[in-house]
Amino acid sequence: MWLVMFILLMVVNANEGEGICKEENLLNDVMPSVDKDYIDSCASTVDGIIDKSAGVRSHMIIDKMEKILENVTFNGSHINFTSKYLIGHVSKVDPVHFDGLEIYANSDKVSSDHGAVLNSTVRLAVPKEILTNVTGKTTVVFCMYKTNKLFKKTVVNDQVVGVSVSQTKIASLANPMNITFFLKQPLNPNETATCVFWDVSTSKWNSSGCKTILADGQIRCQCNHMTYFAVLLSPSAVSEAHLKILSTISFIGCGISLACLTITLVMYAACRKISNDHSTQIHINLAAALVLLNLFFLPNEDLASFKNNTLCRFLALMLHYSLLCSFTWMGIEAFHLYRLLCKVFNINTSRYILKLCLVGWGLPAVVVSLIIAIKKDAYGLRIIPMKEANYTNVTMCYITNEYNTLYYIANIGYLAVVFAFNTFMLGVTVVKLMSIRSTSSPIEKRRAWKDICTILGLSSLLGTTWGLAFFTFGPLSLPGLYFFCVLNSLQGVFIFLWFCALRQKASKSSASSDTHSTKT
Ligand SMILES: *[C@@H]1O[C@H](CO)[C@@H](O)[C@H](O)[C@H]1NC(C)=O
Ligand SMILES: *[C@@H]1O[C@H](CO)[C@@H](O)[C@H](O)[C@H]1NC(C)=O
Ligand SMILES: *[C@@H]1O[C@H](CO)[C@@H](O)[C@H](O)[C@H]1NC(C)=O
Ligand SMILES: *[C@@H]1O[C@H](CO)[C@@H](O)[C@H](O)[C@H]1NC(C)=O
Ligand SMILES: *[C@@H]1O[C@H](CO)[C@@H](O)[C@H](O)[C@H]1NC(C)=O
Ligand SMILES: *[C@@H]1O[C@H](CO)[C@@H](O)[C@H](O)[C@H]1NC(C)=O
Ligand SMILES: *[C@@H]1O[C@H](CO)[C@@H](O)[C@H](O)[C@H]1NC(C)=O
Ligand SMILES: *[C@@H]1O[C@H](CO)[C@@H](O)[C@H](O)[C@H]1NC(C)=O
Ligand SMILES: *[C@@H]1O[C@H](CO)[C@@H](O)[C@H](O)[C@H]1NC(C)=O
Ligand SMILES: *[C@@H]1O[C@H](CO)[C@@H](O)[C@H](O)[C@H]1NC(C)=O
Ligand SMILES: *[C@@H]1O[C@H](CO)[C@@H](O)[C@H](O)[C@H]1NC(C)=O
Repeated sequence: MWLVMFILLMVVNANEGEGICKEENLLNDVMPSVDKDYIDSCASTVDGIIDKSAGVRSHMIIDKMEKILENVTFNGSHINFTSKYLIGHVSKVDPVHFDGLEIYANSDKVSSDHGAVLNSTVRLAVPKEILTNVTGKTTVVFCMYKTNKLFKKTVVNDQVVGVSVSQTKIASLANPMNITFFLKQPLNPNETATCVFWDVSTSKWNSSGCKTILADGQIRCQCNHMTYFAVLLSPSAVSEAHLKILSTISFIGCGISLACLTITLVMYAACRKISNDHSTQIHINLAAALVLLNLFFLPNEDLASFKNNTLCRFLALMLHYSLLCSFTWMGIEAFHLYRLLCKVFNINTSRYILKLCLVGWGLPAVVVSLIIAIKKDAYGLRIIPMKEANYTNVTMCYITNEYNTLYYIANIGYLAVVFAFNTFMLGVTVVKLMSIRSTSSPIEKRRAWKDICTILGLSSLLGTTWGLAFFTFGPLSLPGLYFFCVLNSLQGVFIFLWFCALRQKASKSSASSDTHSTKT
């Protein structure tokens, strides 16, 4: 008999709780005030509403549940609860002793103690400033919806986090509130994450007053008010489209350059008519170095995606080698010009080109070998974060990220030395040219100036182009790539045009000599 009474009592009790948190009550304007024992039944009523009419009355449900939680009565310092779609934490706070609050949560645990929640997916940090306008004891409510059914948008981790202080509206915090979402899965490269709050007045997501900070595996929202927050994921079509355009442009730029340079080399090999002087041979060597550079740069990104270590190391090594070769041949161009004009070195002409080749192809080989000797695994995958595409990374085969010092010394250092050398050589040449102005013939002078312009043009093109590609922006940054492609293709075209002019001259002079011979 007692047992029956007890069971009856429990049923009555349970019904009373259901009654307070009945669906009609939640959806109408009745304001239930509940004891903590009924929170669970309120939460399951909310679950039911979400399941039945996803999103239709989201703001009403959120609003009512928040009021209930703000006004729940309990003994002790805090309570927590969880249900299918909800997890919450209500704590009593006293403005006198309040020193900020941190709450950690995942989908089945919530606590203000970091250690109590393993693998938390959300961390909330509330500044103590929130209680400046509050006099008596109050409650801080944390409530998380573990679904995006209510809001019909893709949100990170399917989590919507709400925080409020009983009967107080908190806005324009000087020290912002931090809500950190730890990503369960990495973001898709084609998605953009934005911290937003649920704007009750418009029933829409709004990002005003919230800052989005993307970091490794987490997204931090800094917001200057309190309400319901989430990280919205929207397709970043722009970024994807940009990436496509950029890849295409890079392909075209390198392609044009490669084609022009290859044609030049083939024509040079096939054509015996043109004057095969030292300048031509040096230009041809530079062209060959540039062909190598483009050849190893063009497919680099695609091949890097195979993640084959052997292949990647080889590619990285060759790319670095050909880059250094190009720089070295640039320096040789300047040196040669200096020698042509100033004739200070009496190098045996038969060995001159051989010696230059030894330097031009040998010195980079020495540098690369040294690098391998010092750090065996210096070459490999290099990750280049792209800020433009919101931290989707580009991988390429080059000097790996672990050896950044080496990367800078072996590239910027080398380039700087070559650049300084070129500047010095060209400077000396120009000074020399000025001083011999009166003595030399105007034709000779014009030729010298033409040479200087050629080499200046090539130097600046080479330096800027590959400087851009490798040091300042990383291969695929937005403005960098546009510049790079234009300059790179210009360089190839430039050498090609120079070669065509040379051939024209050669055929003209041979033609004139032909006519001359027939005359005689
Ligand atoms: C909070 O609950 C008390 C009773 O405990 C009630 O008098 C009061 O009206 C409630 N306030 C709100 C805002 O619901
Ligand atoms: C709080 O504690 C008092 C006495 O300790 C008790 O009568 C009351 O039922 C408790 N209330 C709740 C909600 O637990
Ligand atoms: C609620 O808090 C208690 C201790 O305060 C803890 O043991 C329990 O796991 C918590 N429940 C949830 C759902 O976080
Ligand atoms: C937390 O995550 C680690 C790995 O990330 C996993 O091994 C561990 O089981 C997780 N713990 C819980 C309680 O989920
Ligand atoms: C939120 O983060 C910012 C910047 O890291 C910090 O200045 C601020 O104190 C943090 N706020 C809280 C409540 O921890
Ligand atoms: C406190 O009240 C003042 C004046 O009403 C307001 O400007 C300020 O934003 C409030 N502080 C907080 C944290 O809401
Ligand atoms: C977002 O909220 C701000 C401040 O509450 C408001 O001024 C703005 O109009 C809102 N934007 C939209 C699109 O609703
Ligand atoms: C984003 O990429 C994933 C695959 O990586 C694809 O399933 C999804 O449909 C893409 N989303 C958009 C909006 O393009
Ligand atoms: C990156 O994200 C920000 C917002 O977080 C957005 O304003 C910007 O347009 C995005 N950039 C790209 C290239 O998608
Ligand atoms: C990488 O490629 C080389 C040949 O290019 C092949 O021999 C090797 O098995 C590949 N390694 C992996 C891990 O695929
Ligand atoms: C991009 O690279 C950075 C730093 O190397 C790394 O922390 C981050 O996780 C990478 N992002 C992606 C999407 O791979």
